[in-house]
Amino acid sequence: MSDNLSNFTRTLQKQIFEETKKAYGMAAFERWRNPLYMGAIDNPDGYARVTGPCNDTMEIFLRFEKDRVVEASFQTDGCGSSAVCGSFAAEMAIGKTPDEILDVTGDAILEKLGGLPKDEVHCALLAGETLQEAIGNYMINQIKTMKGGIRKP
Ligand code: FES
Repeated sequence: MSDNLSNFTRTLQKQIFEETKKAYGMAAFERWRNPLYMGAIDNPDGYARVTGPCNDTMEIFLRFEKDRVVEASFQTDGCGSSAVCGSFAAEMAIGKTPDEILDVTGDAILEKLGGLPKDEVHCALLAGETLQEAIGNYMINQIKTMKGGIRKP
């Protein structure tokens, strides 16, 4: 690459980074650059896949030990904000019981991020809804396991 072109690329990248920081805030910017907890978990204890009004899909995977989340992750085919929100949803679930996770809603994710541009608020709501569905799935699996474990007289 010529020096002129690489200088141009660097300047452009810097400009995009600065604009992103300004529009989304530092927490979202850093998470966008490094989306933690991304990827599937094999045989999760709780799982959900939800498609939002924008037609993008979010998946959340949860692994529990002693009724607390010990591992959480997400996958999405959506926008950058959906990856940021999925990442925070997974992070906010770790260490919590199902009851405590009821508080990890889309609004709680938005609060953690310090908000999102109006057009992307639904990305946080999608992450929150998917997490709540994953908890529902975990609870159903728990009940099924308990029923399966009860001996017939
Ligand atoms: Fe669809 Fe962000 S999740 S635009």
